[in-house]
Amino acid sequence: MSSSLFRTKNVEQSIRDTEEPEHALRKSLSALDLTVFGVGVIIGTGIFVLTGQVAKNNAGPAVALAFVAAGVVCALAALCYAEFASTVPVAGSAYTFSYASLGELPAWIIGWDLVLEFALGTAVVAVGWSGYIRSLLDNVGWHLPEYLSGRDGAHGFGFDILAALLVLVLTAILVLGMKLSARITSLVVAIKVAVVLIVIIAGAFFVSARNYHPFIPPAQPVPAGGSLKAPLVQLMFGWAPANFGVMGIFTAASVVFFAFIGFDIVATAAEETRNPQRDVPRGILGSLLICTVLYVAVSVVVTGMQNYTQLSVAAPLADAFKSVGHPWYAGVISFGAAIGLTTVCLILLLGQTRVFFAMSRDGLLPRFFSRVHPRFRTPHRPTILLGVVIAIVAGFTSLSELAELVNIGTLFAFVVVAISVIILRRTRPDLPRAFRTPWVPFVPVLSVCATFWLMLNLPAETWLRFAIWMVIGFAVYFLYGRSHSRLAHSERPAEPEPAPPTS
Ligand code: ALA
Repeated sequence: MSSSLFRTKNVEQSIRDTEEPEHALRKSLSALDLTVFGVGVIIGTGIFVLTGQVAKNNAGPAVALAFVAAGVVCALAALCYAEFASTVPVAGSAYTFSYASLGELPAWIIGWDLVLEFALGTAVVAVGWSGYIRSLLDNVGWHLPEYLSGRDGAHGFGFDILAALLVLVLTAILVLGMKLSARITSLVVAIKVAVVLIVIIAGAFFVSARNYHPFIPPAQPVPAGGSLKAPLVQLMFGWAPANFGVMGIFTAASVVFFAFIGFDIVATAAEETRNPQRDVPRGILGSLLICTVLYVAVSVVVTGMQNYTQLSVAAPLADAFKSVGHPWYAGVISFGAAIGLTTVCLILLLGQTRVFFAMSRDGLLPRFFSRVHPRFRTPHRPTILLGVVIAIVAGFTSLSELAELVNIGTLFAFVVVAISVIILRRTRPDLPRAFRTPWVPFVPVLSVCATFWLMLNLPAETWLRFAIWMVIGFAVYFLYGRSHSRLAHSERPAEPEPAPPTS
């Protein structure tokens, strides 16, 4: 039995699968396209919303250091992702990588994890989008009732109607198979980067040095009774749960890590890249570098414009401009943010259908999930089912809780990818690797340690939720995936294949 749990899908087979005509995706992307795509999906709710939340609750102006810490963890992981992406250039990202190196069960775990990342990530971005739309509506004097404005800061019932609606509309767009053309994507990315640059350049004129004192606010004990909300590391070592201080920077890093999610999605486009061996690593590392620089600059400016205790938690970048008497700038920022976040949401939703498709192509999830709509040629059933679930989750859950859960799932995937680099070097030293992670096994081991450290800084209750998600995943695998796996049936005659989704 243990050998079947660790049966691996041979790398050449993975590549051959993608070459079957009915499964082949068009290879048209260049390194620049990937970088634009990367920046397009990376810049989102993390910088537009979480910056304000963690500055206010966990780190003060030192949130800039939290971005540096999270950026370093991502860079280490990116070096591992890049080797895999250039060796196994097929859709499905970490799921496919681990199927080729670690085996079916670890691959299943990763795939299940990616579903969490993409599905709940969509919800997080939708909630962030809703904050900026509300800020925009406030500008023109329209105020949504509190009970329709979401969970954050709600007393009693709170449902984020705007976030839920956005998810439903985007779900419909995906079902219809409408695609963002490359030109629109580039335009949206340009708007988003322009907004970020406006914040940095215009905001710099309103920075007051007073707001940087103290840069690292002293640690403050959290109220008794909130122990499940304390970072796991503080509970493990019996430290009194506290916010701010040096440990607060790491707590903040484990949350703003969300802002970097997306560079791993660039790896999922490897199959559609003209020269993946060269361009995927360039795309991943390039977009990561650009985003890190922008994030640090934005957080330095925003915490300099407004004292961290005063920052808004729904639309901090725009509201910082309101606080210095410039609602016009605030309006422009909210508008750009709303457009930019819509595409992030769409890409995450789409990413999720791709992972589902890859898993169902391998038989680990029911074929139900990969049967495409006869007219639109899209996997409409899982898209609708998950779209509705995500809309409900986005409506009822607080943004930071959701983000923490997404982060733990993604960080866990990073750990598995880093370990896979080491394993694949041993088991398949012969594979051509256009990009080689430097100093193996040192860099992957460092990546595992750094990633694990961020995970430990997430709240205990996030670990608990993640454990529950994983238990459900194991149940699905053992009750369904293990016996339906295409790999397990590879000796038997093949069933007809589902066609790939068109979007
Ligand atoms: N990194 C993306 C964001 O911050 C997912 O919204």
